[in-house]
Amino acid sequence: MAQQGPVWRAPDVLPVRAAVAKERQDLWDVPLPQVRPSRGEDPADRASPPSAVSSCHHDRVPEFRTYFHRRSTRFARFYQSEPVARMLGRGALFDRLNFAVEQAEAVEARHVLDVGCGSGPLFAPLVRSGIRVTAIDPAPNMLELARAEAARHPDGMVEVQQRGWEDLLEVDEYDAAVALGVFDYVDAPGELLRRMGRAATHVVGSFPAPGLRTCLREIRYARGGVSVHGYRPRDIVRLGAEAGLVVAARRLLGRAGYAVRFSRP
Ligand SMILES: C[S@@+](CC[C@H](N)C(=O)[O-])C[C@H]1O[C@@H](n2cnc3c(N)ncnc32)[C@H](O)[C@@H]1O
Repeated sequence: MAQQGPVWRAPDVLPVRAAVAKERQDLWDVPLPQVRPSRGEDPADRASPPSAVSSCHHDRVPEFRTYFHRRSTRFARFYQSEPVARMLGRGALFDRLNFAVEQAEAVEARHVLDVGCGSGPLFAPLVRSGIRVTAIDPAPNMLELARAEAARHPDGMVEVQQRGWEDLLEVDEYDAAVALGVFDYVDAPGELLRRMGRAATHVVGSFPAPGLRTCLREIRYARGGVSVHGYRPRDIVRLGAEAGLVVAARRLLGRAGYAVRFSRP
């Protein structure tokens, strides 16, 4: 005889996931907080949690500038296969690339600045869309990979320069400036965004969300002397406002965070 009793059912996670996703999307609708800077404080930097490690604006060594120099090949390998990257939980790398290219196309960019270009995964899709790229990165090993990638494209389409965002002094030189996987590690995100927004009319960036995933990255990267920052949607909106920019488009990158386009109002 069949046993009677309560029947166990697998929990229905889909509605929960949908609710969480909606809640994260709704977070974008928060009103812009009024931030009154205290004297001597850079208001843009208030959106970032206090940093454990410095950027070049402080006395300590900016480890972010060298961290990816030592890990260039390992990091670049993620781009070899999108399905493998997705299997390893790194699909957001491709989602943010796609977002950046879509946004560059949406604003009809002819010339894009790629800040922290790494091995140059943005070059091919931008060049395919007829967009010229100026790419900057301070890490010699990353630059070597980026220059090899640039050489695959027609002359004059990709220029690679060894410098960090701290040396960005251009004004209105580009249609869009993109920084993917850079705001994660920068201790002065307001200053970075301001410089990008001065150099270009539109700015695209990726921002990790706070939470367990970012906490675990923080622990991992701390061993290399690099801090990792998480951003809530309201932090991103406020960072933009303080740099004189508005959020014009955004995309959730799963649990990894957000990709955002800022534009001048
Ligand atoms: C996580 S990787 C991302 C690379 C590339 N944007 C991508 O999406 O694959 C971060 C890159 O930022 C570069 N970087 C480090 N310090 C920097 C700085 N001060 N200014 C600009 N880029 C920097 C690193 O060398 C590294 O190539």
